[in-house]
Amino acid sequence: MSINPETFQAEEIEKGIYWVGAIDWELSDFHGYSTGRGTTYNAYLIVDEKITLIDTVKAPFRDQMLSRISSVLEPSRIDYIVSNHSEMDHTGSLPQTIAMVQPEKVIASAMGKKALQEHFGLGDKVSVAPQGETVSLGRRKLSFLETRMLHWPDSMFSFIAEEGILFSQDGFGMHLASEERFADQIEDWILNYEAAKYFANILLPYAPQVLKLLEKVEAAGLSFRMILPDHGPVWRKDPEQIIKLYAKWARQEPTSKAVIIYDTMWGSTALMARAIGEGLAAGGAKPSLLPLKKTDRSEAATEILTAGALLVGSPTMNNQIFPTLADVMTYLRGLKPANLVGAAFGSYGWSGESVKILEEILGAMKAEMVEEGLKVKYVPTPADLENCRRLGGAIASRLPGFGEAV
Ligand code: FEO
Repeated sequence: MSINPETFQAEEIEKGIYWVGAIDWELSDFHGYSTGRGTTYNAYLIVDEKITLIDTVKAPFRDQMLSRISSVLEPSRIDYIVSNHSEMDHTGSLPQTIAMVQPEKVIASAMGKKALQEHFGLGDKVSVAPQGETVSLGRRKLSFLETRMLHWPDSMFSFIAEEGILFSQDGFGMHLASEERFADQIEDWILNYEAAKYFANILLPYAPQVLKLLEKVEAAGLSFRMILPDHGPVWRKDPEQIIKLYAKWARQEPTSKAVIIYDTMWGSTALMARAIGEGLAAGGAKPSLLPLKKTDRSEAATEILTAGALLVGSPTMNNQIFPTLADVMTYLRGLKPANLVGAAFGSYGWSGESVKILEEILGAMKAEMVEEGLKVKYVPTPADLENCRRLGGAIASRLPGFGEAV
């Protein structure tokens, strides 16, 4: 083990269960997801007859984790390591930790064993977590539940059923660096925004699996009083609040919010966006204009999580959509938002392909297209802008709450 000049302390989360993770204050981009508030890589140490480490941390933070473990006990005393998720922010330091600790067992799901082989050649060191059975740690017993595609094929939950303690890997997490370890210590508006942003950017493509998993947990009679995710704070008070939010976000029920994503070359597409927004508002919808000059792809995804409509505008440039739109729409399409009403618009000079390209993308996203998109040559006239307002009104009429008294 290299010598780290800094020393770090473990934090006891529950009697005999310590947080031994790492705080990454500098992280600003997590594979394309903007993380302006940094993140944590959480690992947990259960001190029992069999000392057990749940997950590890991203490779550059290995010494921070080992330092925190060392504040409780000598890392070589670890008997079991559980790998709930093979992505490298949780396993980057696993190979060296295994080499150093020489644990009796490394436990992962069947797909996790395969992934750990394919990443690090560790397959022969991994035991497959027994589903429906427990592994005794002494006083405590650990159970496992595969959560395939939430959000990787290998993902699984570990839990201590008798105490209602869930180690949920990425689930119920958020990218939020903090010295506070518990959700109830974080301001609500930050907590809610970062949890929603995490769901929108990581879990949204698997929303149907989220709903099935929540049903499965309920049917199995499992309830959790404490949720310990692999990023962000621990939910120790009323974890039902985040479970309910997950169910709501996964259902993607349409709302009266209409997100308008656009970029502009000489201001014409921006004028159209504003006029469409006015039409939406006049029709009782809640327009949210997201100019891509100041909105990144993961903020756009977060806005769409709670929207009923997605309108997309781009000028035509060299027979294509603007590169900013190409970036964001490729990203959003991959996230598979559902139940959206859609429309496209944009200005052009001579060829005007952008609206058709955007409509194809919205179609691939299974958005319900209200009408043919609006194209404006060079600069919108007052009549063009009126037509944009009319389109906004037509979209508003398809959203919940239309026509209700305000
Ligand atoms: Fe936090 Fe999917 O890794």
